[in-house]
Amino acid sequence: MKPLYFDNNATTRVAPEVLEEMLPVLSDLYGNPSSMHRFGGQVGRLLARARERVAAGLGCSPEEIVFTSCGTESDNTALHSAVAANPGKKHLVTTRVEHPAVLNVAQHLEKRGHDVTWLGVDAQGLLDLDELRRSLRDDTALVSVMFANNETGTVYPLADIADICRERGVLLHTDAVQAVGKLPLDLSALGVDYLALSGHKLHAPKGVGALYVRRGAPFRPFVLGGHQERGRRAGTENVASIVALGRAVELAAANIDEENTRVRALRDRLERGLLESIPDARLNGHPDRRLPNTTNISFKYVEGEAILLLMDELGICASSGSACTSGSLEPSHVLRALGVPFTFAHGSIRFSLSRYNTGAEVDTVLREMPGIIARLRAMSPFREGADAPDGGACACSCSAPGKGGR
Ligand SMILES: Cc1ncc(COP(=O)(O)O)c(C=O)c1O
Repeated sequence: MKPLYFDNNATTRVAPEVLEEMLPVLSDLYGNPSSMHRFGGQVGRLLARARERVAAGLGCSPEEIVFTSCGTESDNTALHSAVAANPGKKHLVTTRVEHPAVLNVAQHLEKRGHDVTWLGVDAQGLLDLDELRRSLRDDTALVSVMFANNETGTVYPLADIADICRERGVLLHTDAVQAVGKLPLDLSALGVDYLALSGHKLHAPKGVGALYVRRGAPFRPFVLGGHQERGRRAGTENVASIVALGRAVELAAANIDEENTRVRALRDRLERGLLESIPDARLNGHPDRRLPNTTNISFKYVEGEAILLLMDELGICASSGSACTSGSLEPSHVLRALGVPFTFAHGSIRFSLSRYNTGAEVDTVLREMPGIIARLRAMSPFREGADAPDGGACACSCSAPGKGGR
């Protein structure tokens, strides 16, 4: 059977239209875009066109786009920039559900003397905007709130957050790596200062990203060297992938409403079917304020990694919300921030769809999942009647002590 790919928040297949445009840049069009001769000029024009396409898709101007190597670099650059440009401001605000590309930078800055306010979320993953408002101080250098969460798909109200930051004159960054290509965006109206995106989440290749820097927002380069990207990001541009990113953003923007409607309908059928056919299953994250392609479901008494293995045996590929590392099973920081109970958090599976998923694929998942969960529950030490309180033994096959309460 052809494998079924339901892991599009991890990465996506390169769209054929995108591949077609990038291939000539990997063969004949090999000039350096900074070169003065015709080889350089040809490629320089492609670079300029890609910048225009990305800008058009986001509703900003091409000069506000800096190409980078990935979403992580874009996030790092934004945080670094805001901090370096405001040496007197030692306070940052972010959330407990950020991707490590923001989370670990904030933790790093905290260790180096910055004061970080970590905003919590409620059981559906939403922020308390009054808490955000109260957290802002005269020495706040930056607020960083993701546009959409990679694990649950929960979407944050960036326009409202931008208003709050503006009132206090505080810079705002958003990690929109999961949002670009899945949600319509208009940066001319949004009011954020920095926005990170990544090619491989929207059917362009891995190893390319972009950072939007609002005209007038302070900027300090993160990668130093040559004068590429108008001195904002050194290093010869990855032109083939940048061309691909330009095309991918254009494709996504052109079809976003119709694709979202189709993908959401498939996602909803999958979600409803799983919740109805499998007892003790629950949805993680917000039911409505969510990316159209994402559903994160916990199956009580079973362990995510084991579910994934059995799914993979049947050719169904998704992600779990936990990682069995060094002999202990740690539920994801996102599910912990939502307060998902221990016996559910360990058994969480994220299905993330794309324009390439079909109804027949959803049918296959709906047919196979009840059997997988029943098989694992029959072996689970935590099945009904044998439940362990939080803090009991780990449900993972490693039988390490439990992580309950953390
Ligand atoms: C929300 C979010 N931010 C940042 C990243 C990092 O992007 P990249 O893999 O391009 O570095 C990811 C990737 O999973 C993500 O989901």
